[in-house]
Amino acid sequence: MENNPYESSKLLGEYLLFHYGKDEEVLPWPNGPVEALGFTKRTVESLIDEISFNADSRALDVGCAVGASSFVLGKYFGDVLGVDFSKNFIDAANTLKEKNSLSYSYLVEGDSYKQADAVPQSTEGNVSFAVGDAMNLDSSLANYDLVHAANLICRLPSPQEFFERIPYLVKQGGQLLLATPFTWLEEYTPRNNWIGSGDSKEKLQEILSPCFQLEYEEDLPFLIREHRRKYQYSISWGTRWRRL
Ligand SMILES: C[S@@+](CC[C@H](N)C(=O)[O-])C[C@H]1O[C@@H](n2cnc3c(N)ncnc32)[C@H](O)[C@@H]1O
Repeated sequence: MENNPYESSKLLGEYLLFHYGKDEEVLPWPNGPVEALGFTKRTVESLIDEISFNADSRALDVGCAVGASSFVLGKYFGDVLGVDFSKNFIDAANTLKEKNSLSYSYLVEGDSYKQADAVPQSTEGNVSFAVGDAMNLDSSLANYDLVHAANLICRLPSPQEFFERIPYLVKQGGQLLLATPFTWLEEYTPRNNWIGSGDSKEKLQEILSPCFQLEYEEDLPFLIREHRRKYQYSISWGTRWRRL
C-alpha cells in the first residue's frame, strides 16, 4: 500500500507502547479504563484453548505488528511465525527477538517524548518474524495448530479473500483466534468489501461456519494511546473457532 500509515515512525512509537508499554506508561490516570490494558496478551490468553500443545506445535500470527502476541504464543508453541505487511514493525519485532529489548520513544504531548524500553513477555518457543501480505500469503504457510489474527481484518483490502485462505492455514481440529472491532474504513477496505455494516458479527459467522465452529467469544476492550491525554478506546470482538 502506498503511504502505508503502519510504516510511519508515529505509529511505530504508538504500537511499541501499545504492545510493550508498562501499565503506568500507557495510562498514567488512576481513574482511566484499566480493563483495556494488556490487549495483545488477552487476544491470546483469554481466547486460547490450552489443551495439548507440545514442542512440535506451530502457530501463525497474521498482522502481528511489533510482535507482542507472537511472543505470548511462544509460551504455548514450539514454533511461532509472526507476519506483517509493515517492514518497520517487523524490523522492530526482529530486534526484540535478537536483543530481548528495544529502546523507543513515545509521545507525551506536542513534541515532547519519553524514552522507554520494550521487553517481550516471554522468551519461550522459537519465535520468528517475516514481512508478508495477508492477501497473498506464501503457499508454504499451511496446517498450523493455531492461527491468531487480531485487529487485522478491517485493515485488509479484501477480508473475504483472507477468509478463503484461512481454512488452509489451520489444520483440522486446530484453532483460529480472531479479534476485530469491525472498524470499516474506505481508506483500507473498499465499501463493497466490508463484510457487513451493523451486522458484521453475523456475516463473519456465516463466512466461517462452513469450515469452523465458534467455540468461545469475549469482548476485548483495548486502548491505543496517542498522547498523554488522548486515546483510542475500542472493543474488539474476540473469538475462538475450531477447524472442522
Ligand atoms: C490494527 S493493527 C493490529 C496489530 C496487532 N495484531 C495488534 O493486535 O496490535 C493491524 C496490523 O495489520 C498489519 N497489516 C495491514 N495490512 C496487512 C496485510 N495485507 N498483510 C499483513 N499485515 C497487514 C498492519 O501493518 C498492522 O500491523
